[in-house]
Amino acid sequence: MKCFLLLTAVGAGYVLANSSCTQLPAETGPATGAGRYAATSRTTMPDTSGYETAPPRDPNGIARYYLGRQIAHVMGHEGADWLERSGRAKEEGTNLLIKELKLKPTDVVADIGAGTGFFSFQLAQQVPQGRVLAVDIQPEMIAALNQTKAQRNVANVQPVLGRVDDPRLPVDGVDLVLIVDAYHEFDHPREMGRAIRRALRPGTGRLALVEYRAEDADVPIKRIHKMSVAQARKEMAAIGLDFVAVVETLPQQHLLLFRRR
Ligand SMILES: C[S@@+](CC[C@H](N)C(=O)[O-])C[C@H]1O[C@@H](n2cnc3c(N)ncnc32)[C@H](O)[C@@H]1O
Repeated sequence: MKCFLLLTAVGAGYVLANSSCTQLPAETGPATGAGRYAATSRTTMPDTSGYETAPPRDPNGIARYYLGRQIAHVMGHEGADWLERSGRAKEEGTNLLIKELKLKPTDVVADIGAGTGFFSFQLAQQVPQGRVLAVDIQPEMIAALNQTKAQRNVANVQPVLGRVDDPRLPVDGVDLVLIVDAYHEFDHPREMGRAIRRALRPGTGRLALVEYRAEDADVPIKRIHKMSVAQARKEMAAIGLDFVAVVETLPQQHLLLFRRR
């Protein structure tokens, strides 16, 4: 049975209203031969970067694949309320996630794909002598971050308007990069990954990658907005980050930790 992608109005395109249906595979690469796209004039253009261009196998994806994974559409700023929904902390165990990061008070943290700053402002409390660089590519998200910063009078959150291929971080200057539910939307994951590696402090800098568990069909999120451990490890190895651990204490997501080689 094909999956009917019924969206909830507040789900910002993420949520599967009917999670019992079969989900389209998102990490099997573009269709080839007389498969799904046989009726269309299809061109597949592999190159050495790991990117391929082909029609989206999943309608929620863009026509671009990286190391076999289809990249998802960016969640628009219209979905901001979903990021701030009441009940999120319980659903996703966000307090536990922050504890698992084991931050030091002086750490410099980059929250990439920060959105409204759901995490940025909580992280700021953990690093009172450090700072949080809250990076996003949507000016509307940057405006929301600036508004919350002013309303809450928080000095150590610095909103940063990034580019799709560059988070504009200080070289060798970041202790922890946190990416929650955003990496699978990066349309230049290789360039972003390399820039992140350059930003991490050599030897000690860590990346914490949080993505919904692709291996778990009970997590009610569309397949394209999830990632498997194997895929995440493959993509991080490709840009020179060493796998440290995967933490599986969160209700719906993997927390994967990597270190700069
Ligand atoms: C689903 S939201 C998650 C927001 C936040 N991490 C959270 O969990 O509340 C994903 C965010 O990633 C941002 N994003 C997508 N591609 C990006 C990129 N290349 N660099 C920085 N942000 C990006 C989007 O604009 C969006 O705000």
